[in-house]
Amino acid sequence: MGHKTLHRNREMQNQNLNDKVDKNLLTIRDLEFGYIPHKPILKGINLDVPKGRFLGLLGPSGSGKSTLLKIIIGLHRPWHGYIQYGSNKINYTKTAGSTSALLTSYLVNPIKDSIRASFSSIGYVPQIESVDWSFPVTVTEVVGMGIWNRSGIYPWFGKGNKEKIHHMLDSLGIAEYAKRQIRELSGGEQQRVFLGRALISNPQILILDEPTSGVDYNTREKIFAILTDLNSKGMTIILTTHDVTGLGKRLPWVVCINKSIISQGPPNEALNQENLLKTYGLATDFSSFGIDKNKNTLSLTDTVVAHDRRHDTNLESE
Ligand SMILES: Nc1ncnc2c1ncn2[C@@H]1O[C@H](COP(=O)(O)OP(=O)(O)O)[C@@H](O)[C@H]1O
Ligand SMILES: [Mg+2]
Repeated sequence: MGHKTLHRNREMQNQNLNDKVDKNLLTIRDLEFGYIPHKPILKGINLDVPKGRFLGLLGPSGSGKSTLLKIIIGLHRPWHGYIQYGSNKINYTKTAGSTSALLTSYLVNPIKDSIRASFSSIGYVPQIESVDWSFPVTVTEVVGMGIWNRSGIYPWFGKGNKEKIHHMLDSLGIAEYAKRQIRELSGGEQQRVFLGRALISNPQILILDEPTSGVDYNTREKIFAILTDLNSKGMTIILTTHDVTGLGKRLPWVVCINKSIISQGPPNEALNQENLLKTYGLATDFSSFGIDKNKNTLSLTDTVVAHDRRHDTNLESE
């Protein structure tokens, strides 16, 4: 391929990327981030999230899924690239000497407020395993925390808000636990409480980190049903999962990630053997993903549960 053709192709590619931006609820371009200077965890990330998309970020443990979510909600500051929330673009540039600059300037959240100002809200459900459950707080209080920024320190004390919280708990089937300490609940119930906290502010995007990890089969199905219902009513959803067969391939849109984005699209296109190999590494047992070797695509009826490939992928090898 000649130099000119290459150049023109790249220009066309950029034009295509630019055309899509305005139609997206969330647009990420050329994003790079790492916790340690010169060691990027995420590189060259481009992602389009149109309104109404139900998207699963798939990748092995340590591939940067949680990190990307935390960047989207403003917990970490990217080294460079930009994120556009609706029509509001936040540009990140590497400041001079940043590699030797205080690491903390990248780890704290100087941009959270500007995201909140530009975007009515993002609902975030953290991975339940990462929450400190010793904190004494009731179910009602946790959901009330989702009404941030509205009416002082204890926003859930207002009558209108109390009704709102009750209605939310009811719709998630956890109204009977309203007064219980959150640490007394099962993983699936805790998951629903945090979902309530995220949903009560009526977010434009719902973001969930491993919503089905550490829960049993029935709970996973319940959570999947709730999310599918929310999405059918128009909610845009981004979630992460390392469970490809149990959850990932049942989503309408998947993004395979391992430091950079490997593939994306409907699961029967994005999850072919080649892409899974690039995402999960050589040691992957593809039969556990329900790969039909002859067709080189996933069989969508297969229900084998994928193993957590935590130890199979060496992120350092490059
Ligand atoms: N706070 C942190 N400080 C330093 N390294 C981190 C931190 N959080 C995550 N990492 C590292 O970043 C990489 C990606 O982690 P993470 O985004 O949690 O991956 P995933 O969610 O896909 O399992 C891993 O190598 C992890 O060890
Ligand atoms: Mg994670």
